[in-house]
Amino acid sequence: MKKTIFLFAILLFISCKKEETKNESLYPEAEKSAEEKQLELGQAIFEGKGNCFSCHKPDQKIIGPSIQEIAVMYKEKNGDMVAFLKGKAEPIVDPSQYEVMKTNFAITKNLPEEELKALEAYFYSFAK
Ligand code: HEC
Repeated sequence: MKKTIFLFAILLFISCKKEETKNESLYPEAEKSAEEKQLELGQAIFEGKGNCFSCHKPDQKIIGPSIQEIAVMYKEKNGDMVAFLKGKAEPIVDPSQYEVMKTNFAITKNLPEEELKALEAYFYSFAK
């Protein structure tokens, strides 16, 4: 039993060590995966020019449904968020409030596909 605990401690130590060296990289940007970069872009638009944060919070409904609620619903129903943000798909989360969300299409319709996909990925990162 003691041996197992000892082994486990060593393993833990080794895995922590690895984590450390990873974070100490001189070029952290270069080591980010495409997925991480996409999430960062999505978050930047969400909090920046998209202005989404004023109506959506991660796990709490304010004016709009929470990001989590939207993400879970889109996953369950296999929704197409990019199409929705282009004004080309019906609302599936809260159709009764659709008119409020619709005002944002003025912004989202003009975003490049890449940025809409980044927003979608950012939303999906909350569906856990
Ligand atoms: C003025 C407030 C407001 C802002 C700003 C806003 N939303 Fe919304 N959003 C809402 C409301 C209200 C709903 C619920 C109505 C609905 O489901 O369409 C909603 C719903 C949604 C949905 C679910 C749509 C569905 O299928 O029902 C998505 C996805 C979404 N918003 C994304 C965004 C993104 C991305 C931004 C930023 C570009 C944004 N929203 C900015 C109010 C807002």
